[in-house]
Amino acid sequence: MHKSRFCAGIALLALSASGCGLAAASNGEDIMVPAEPTLIDFVDPATVVGLSTATLTEGDATSGRYVHIKYPVLAGASALNRALKARAERQLKEFRRATGGNAPILPKPELNVDWQLAAASPDAVGVRLRTGEFLGTSWGNSTRTYWFDPHTGKAAGSTGLLAGKPALERLAALVKEALADRGGQVERSRVTADAGLFDSMAFNRNGDLVVEFDDCEVGRCSLGRVAVAIPAQQAAPLLSELGRRAQRAARDAARRSAAPEVPSFTPTSSPDAVSSRAGGVDCRVRKCVALTFDDGPGPYTGRLLNILAEHRARATFFALGGSVSAEPALIRRMSMEGHLVGNHSWSHKDLSKQPSSKVADSLGKTSDAVSEVIGQRPSLVRPPYGAVNPQVRDVAREMGCAVVTWDVDSEDESAKDAAEIADRVVHAAHPGAIILMHDIHRETVDAVPDILRRLRGNGYTFVTVPELYGPVGMQAGRMYRSGNELPGKQPLT
Ligand code: NI
Repeated sequence: MHKSRFCAGIALLALSASGCGLAAASNGEDIMVPAEPTLIDFVDPATVVGLSTATLTEGDATSGRYVHIKYPVLAGASALNRALKARAERQLKEFRRATGGNAPILPKPELNVDWQLAAASPDAVGVRLRTGEFLGTSWGNSTRTYWFDPHTGKAAGSTGLLAGKPALERLAALVKEALADRGGQVERSRVTADAGLFDSMAFNRNGDLVVEFDDCEVGRCSLGRVAVAIPAQQAAPLLSELGRRAQRAARDAARRSAAPEVPSFTPTSSPDAVSSRAGGVDCRVRKCVALTFDDGPGPYTGRLLNILAEHRARATFFALGGSVSAEPALIRRMSMEGHLVGNHSWSHKDLSKQPSSKVADSLGKTSDAVSEVIGQRPSLVRPPYGAVNPQVRDVAREMGCAVVTWDVDSEDESAKDAAEIADRVVHAAHPGAIILMHDIHRETVDAVPDILRRLRGNGYTFVTVPELYGPVGMQAGRMYRSGNELPGKQPLT
C-alpha cells in the first residue's frame, strides 16, 4: 500500500518535475544550465506524493536557545524516516548539551535545520539536510545527505553511494586533485578517506558526483561552501548499486525538466482569493479574537482545517516557505476556505540575526511560494520567534507587509496536553487578542475544538488578523501585537 502510494508520486514527478539549482531564479527560464558543476538540481517536493514534514522546535520566551529542525517524512520510506528522525533528535540533544542551561545569553544560540530533495524517483531518494548553528557570534553551516533505496527498503549515509572503502579512498584522492586549483585557503591535506568528511554527496544533472564539505572542514571557516564535482565517468567505477541508481535518477530528472513542462496548477489573481481580504466582521461592535497558527503546514493542518470549517471559524496561518512548497494543497485549501495566509519566513531562522539581504531573500522566496499557489502575496509577516529589529521591519515595509506578533501565547510547545493549551488560551483571551499557536503540534490541534466552543460561548467571533483593525487597516512595516493597540501608541521595537 505504502509502496504504491510512493510510486504514484513518482508517476506525477514524471509530469512536472522541475529542477531548481542553488542559484536558480524561480521566475527565470524553466531550464537552467548550471555554470557551476557543483550545483545540485533539487526535486520540487510538491511533485512527490506521500510527502509530509516533521518538526522539532524550542524557543519560547523562557528558553535559552532557539531550535527549529525540520525534515521530510516519505510514505513507503520508513527506514529513511527513522534515520532522519534519529538524526534530528541527536542534533537537538547535542545542541542542548552544547548550549548548557537556560542562561540568558544574547543573542540566543540557535540551531536551524531544513531540507531539500536531491532525488526522488523509484530508483533512489536523497534528502539533503542543511544545518545552520549560531553559538554567539556567527553562523556555522553544514550539510548531510541521506539516501534511500526503494528496491531494498534500506537507508544509508552518503558513503552508501560508494562501493566500499577502496572507492572512498579513490574518491578522496580525486577530490584532493580537484581542489588543487582552489588556492592556498583550501587545505588539501585535511581531505582523507573519512566517512564523516564525505557525509554529503549527491549528483548534478550530468551525473557528476558532487561532494560537499562543511564550514571549516577543509579550510578557513570564512571560505563558505566548498564543493567538488567529480565527472560522471570518473565517478562511475566507484559507485555502489545505490550510487548508480541515484546517478541515473539525477540524469532522468534533468531530462524530464528539459521537456516542456505540464503545469499542475495555474495560479490566478482571482478577486475571490481571500488571502489578504479583510472579511466582513466589524470588530468595533463584536468581540473578536484572531487565532494564529505558525510553522505549518504540517501533518495536523488538514485536520485543523476540518475543525475550523466545522465550527465556521476563520484563522490566520503564518506558513514557512519550505513547507508551502512541500504541501501546496493545504495552502490552497486555507485560502479557499476563508483563512488568511501570512509569511513566517522560509526556514524559521531568527531574522534579527541576519543581514537585510538574507531577510529579504527568506521573506521574498516565501511570498513567491505562497503567490504561486494561491495567486496572492501575503500581506502579513510574522518573524520567527517574534524576533524583530528595524532592518526586519524595513524589509517588511518594502515588501508591503505589516509585521504581526501576538499578545496571547498558548505556550503550546511546552504544554503537557490539549486541556492545558485550551485553558490557557480561554483564560487569556480578550477582545482584540492575537493568539499564538502552532499547527505542527498534535496537542494544539486537539485543543482547538474546545477553544472554539468555549470562546464562542463567551460571545467571541473568530476573525483573521486584518479584520481586527477594520476600516483603519494595517500599514506596511508597522508592528501589530494586539487588536487593542491604537495607532501611534506602539513601541517602535
Ligand atoms: Ni514559528
